[in-house]
Amino acid sequence: MVVEGKDAEQMAKEHKEISISEFFEKNRHLLGYDNPTRALLTVVKEFVDNSLDACEEARILPRIWLEVKPTTSDRFRVMVKDNGPGMLDKRIPKTLGKLLVGSKFYKHIQSRGQQGLGTKGAVLYAQLTTGKPTTIISSTGNGKTSFYELMIDVKKNEPKIISHKYVEDGRKWHGLKLEMEIEGRYVDSRTGVPEFIKEVAISNPFADIIFDGPEGRMEFKRGTNELPPLPKEIKPHPYGVELGIFRRMLQDTSSRSIKTFFMNDFTRVGSTSANGICEVAGIDPKISPKSVDRETTEKLFKSMKKAKLLRPPTDCLSPLGESIMLSGLKKEIEGEFFSAVTRPAAVYRGEPFQVEAGIAYGGKLPEDQAVEVIRLSNRVPLMYQKGDCAITKAVEKTNWKSYELKQSGSNLPRGPAIVMVHFASTWVPYTSESKQAIASYPIIIKEIKLALQEAGRRMKSYVIGKRKFEMRQKRRKKFERYIPEVAETLNKITNEDKQLIKAKLQKKAKEVTGVKISG
Ligand SMILES: Nc1ncnc2c1ncn2[C@@H]1O[C@H](COP(=O)(O)OP(=O)(O)O)[C@@H](O)[C@H]1O
Ligand SMILES: [Mg+2]
Repeated sequence: MVVEGKDAEQMAKEHKEISISEFFEKNRHLLGYDNPTRALLTVVKEFVDNSLDACEEARILPRIWLEVKPTTSDRFRVMVKDNGPGMLDKRIPKTLGKLLVGSKFYKHIQSRGQQGLGTKGAVLYAQLTTGKPTTIISSTGNGKTSFYELMIDVKKNEPKIISHKYVEDGRKWHGLKLEMEIEGRYVDSRTGVPEFIKEVAISNPFADIIFDGPEGRMEFKRGTNELPPLPKEIKPHPYGVELGIFRRMLQDTSSRSIKTFFMNDFTRVGSTSANGICEVAGIDPKISPKSVDRETTEKLFKSMKKAKLLRPPTDCLSPLGESIMLSGLKKEIEGEFFSAVTRPAAVYRGEPFQVEAGIAYGGKLPEDQAVEVIRLSNRVPLMYQKGDCAITKAVEKTNWKSYELKQSGSNLPRGPAIVMVHFASTWVPYTSESKQAIASYPIIIKEIKLALQEAGRRMKSYVIGKRKFEMRQKRRKKFERYIPEVAETLNKITNEDKQLIKAKLQKKAKEVTGVKISG
């Protein structure tokens, strides 16, 4: 049988535009919904990320209440409630019911969310697996409360409001409560919800978190009232902008001349640099950005990339800082020694980033196991794709034998330790939209290794000090065993008081075998 081929016209008839919601409904694995276990974690993670982001931006010490309860054998009700700023009544449908709407995408600022997909992915997943809408209750502290039941019209990528009330109830509260029912599976393992919450508590020790799960209630009390400083928003740095985006910036700018465009729309370009860029490109700095043709755009772009410019400012970053890291580790991990290191900021493709490392050592940590690695990116614990992540690779590539841990080849070290690495950036180069692994740019691996080495050196001096102390303790014990006998003999020879001789010998033993260890 001969099958006739289609011509271009027939094929063209079959073309259809698909909406972003349809795309992610089909490709839900891209957002972290590839299996029920991971789906439950993803929903929890998106809710908690948003609550923490919103509280921090509003400078409120976060208090987060999370509930995960089974409704059937394979369904769960997930609820999160926070004491954040809440959301404006009229903004709720679009912000939580239309994909790619968010406040963070265009900001050059460090935050947990970035694309404006998080909550919508969860709403979409809920309606896909249980057919039920998401309930939203919110107030901004104005004595009015919003109630919504929301779904997403997938074909249009628009919110579908099932019900809405905006009630003047006089209650002075602010915050957001989200509730949905989803298909999921609850596990208590390294990739499960309880571990995630524990890591959130470690990396956000300024948050009070209550987790009411299938196995009961866990409370993580805040260990500090210190919020990390609020990062500042910055303009893009010329080194990080690609040609297509540069062209669009030229079209969209409100600056009158090329020179002011460079100065106003980018960070780190002053009057001299702007003139320099135009001169190298052979372009008059006074012409209008809108009049620039394709060829000139390319010349300016090349010249901009070659210009000698300062690195982007780093106050757009919000590292945890050594004291917050230590407070998180100490409150949740039963170790005996803790160290934390914050590296100076560095830059990849024009985006500033900063690496921090913490180590908890000894105490009740298991002696002979591969060390646990807590990976954090913009303060969010990463639970999946461990092997693909720059953090895991950097931990493996670090030579831990020089820091008193066991290690065979390029594997994770073994010993009573937990290693925590925080990667903070205005734009984290995740390997996929589900944001679970950081791409292994060489500069990123290098910075992580430097942070680990510094934390490792501190651990090593503690371990060596401890070992010396233990050796001397042993020697003292041996010495002390013979003191009564020696005292007896000396007493016979010298007739000196036995108790006095004993005391003197004991003092001497302490002097000879005493050593201070710091931790
Ligand atoms: N708990 C919350 N409190 C206040 N605002 C919130 C909260 N959760 C989400 N938002 C707002 O909704 C927007 C969309 O959230 P989301 O879909 O997770 O995307 P993203 O976090 O990537 O911006 C956020 O940018 C924020 O402005
Ligand atoms: Mg989010």
